[in-house]
Amino acid sequence: MPDTPLIEITNLCLRVNNTDLLDSISMSSKDCGVTMVMGPNGAGKSLLLKCLHGLIKPTFGSVKVSGEYVLGPSTNQAMVFQTPVLLRRNVFANLKFAAPPGTNAVTINNALSTAHLADKKDLPARLLSGGEQQRLALVRALLRKPKLLVLDEPTASLDPASIQIIEGLIQDFTEHGGKTIFVSHDIGQAKRLGSDIIFLHKGRVVEHSDAARFFINPKSKEAKAYLNGQLIV
Ligand SMILES: Nc1ncnc2c1ncn2[C@@H]1O[C@H](COP(=O)(O)OP(=O)(O)O)[C@@H](O)[C@H]1O
Ligand SMILES: [Mg+2]
Repeated sequence: MPDTPLIEITNLCLRVNNTDLLDSISMSSKDCGVTMVMGPNGAGKSLLLKCLHGLIKPTFGSVKVSGEYVLGPSTNQAMVFQTPVLLRRNVFANLKFAAPPGTNAVTINNALSTAHLADKKDLPARLLSGGEQQRLALVRALLRKPKLLVLDEPTASLDPASIQIIEGLIQDFTEHGGKTIFVSHDIGQAKRLGSDIIFLHKGRVVEHSDAARFFINPKSKEAKAYLNGQLIV
């Protein structure tokens, strides 16, 4: 079906202890580009991404990717968290373990080069710096050739060089037809990468706009306040 959006979320609610942590979220997204998810702490950004990735089952509503219900982790999509989860092995083995069966050493070495980690391949992954670990987590996700990349604050508190490398990898992925959903508090980063912005507040989508419009003329008072650096509750 050519008109099926890559991501389609319909009336998604996540209710815990009688509180709607996610409340009536409906959205669809373009098949490519980077959709940035923004909003204050506690807005529900991480929960929304976990529902999108099949890690949390919504109380009501549905999540579809490529027209199929997301009922659990799928090989079509890969997620990277703020704190990378790496295996207690060396850098090369972390990629080899996650790569599709039959992936050869050349492909893995090329992936390491794109993350500027070629000279670290024999080092235990736990000895990498925070930025290097996150670069490894991202190329490990990309090696699986996902259609959808789900990123929850992957560059929060990283060094500028790692941020630049990670943003380059994401841009390359989307230029080759991949779709990225990216939570960030960094307005500069959202302007650099975002094609559209979803703004969440108290578990609701209060705005979903093209990036160009969002940063010049946000529609919602919550997004206006956030972009002005005001604390919103
Ligand atoms: N398992 C849970 N049970 C109850 N409350 C939760 C749970 N997980 C998250 N929350 C609450 O839901 C809200 C949204 O969380 P989260 O999605 O992590 O926010 P953020 O937008 O900062 O990523 C927060 O107020 C958080 O405390
Ligand atoms: Mg979060």
